[in-house]
Amino acid sequence: MKTLLPVLIVINLFAAGAAEAASTMDGVYTDAQAQRGMEQYLQHCSICHSASLQGNNESPPLVGRFMPDWADAPLSDLYDYINSAMPLDRPGSLSTAAYTDIVAYLLKVNGFPSGQTELDSNTLQSIRFDISRPPSRPRQSATH
Ligand code: HEC
Repeated sequence: MKTLLPVLIVINLFAAGAAEAASTMDGVYTDAQAQRGMEQYLQHCSICHSASLQGNNESPPLVGRFMPDWADAPLSDLYDYINSAMPLDRPGSLSTAAYTDIVAYLLKVNGFPSGQTELDSNTLQSIRFDISRPPSRPRQSATH
């Protein structure tokens, strides 16, 4: 029993950390999930938003300029929008898992870090879309 106490304390700390509101900077999806999301994206979305996510004359880009639309909102807003409105010609036609994986892919291509835990459709509400700390970009060369 003596060795059990520290273990329990560590588990408690983990639980407390997980309960705190997370942001998109906290590694809220995995690389494997983003990879699955990419496959879904190429199948269902790229015909309009393009394979590079830059969009075309009719469909908006899903990188860069797209982010301010969702800034500081819970990630569930983006999910709900995609789930109810996309693909434009067949809204709601994908599974919950597929839409969630696509959100993970959108985070990845917009430069947000991946982590150890998959994005879960049930916790999107507690994750804030954070663009106050801009995702990593190529470093500017140092000037004096
Ligand atoms: C048939 C073409 C088409 C397909 C397929 C399509 N979209 Fe769209 N998408 C659009 C258009 C057009 C808009 C702009 C809608 C508007 O302004 O009301 C849009 C808007 C969006 C937005 C909002 C962009 C912003 O700046 O906030 C997101 C996010 C999005 N689409 C994601 C997706 C995803 C994910 C898929 C695949 C599951 C998908 N779309 C499939 C045409 C499409």
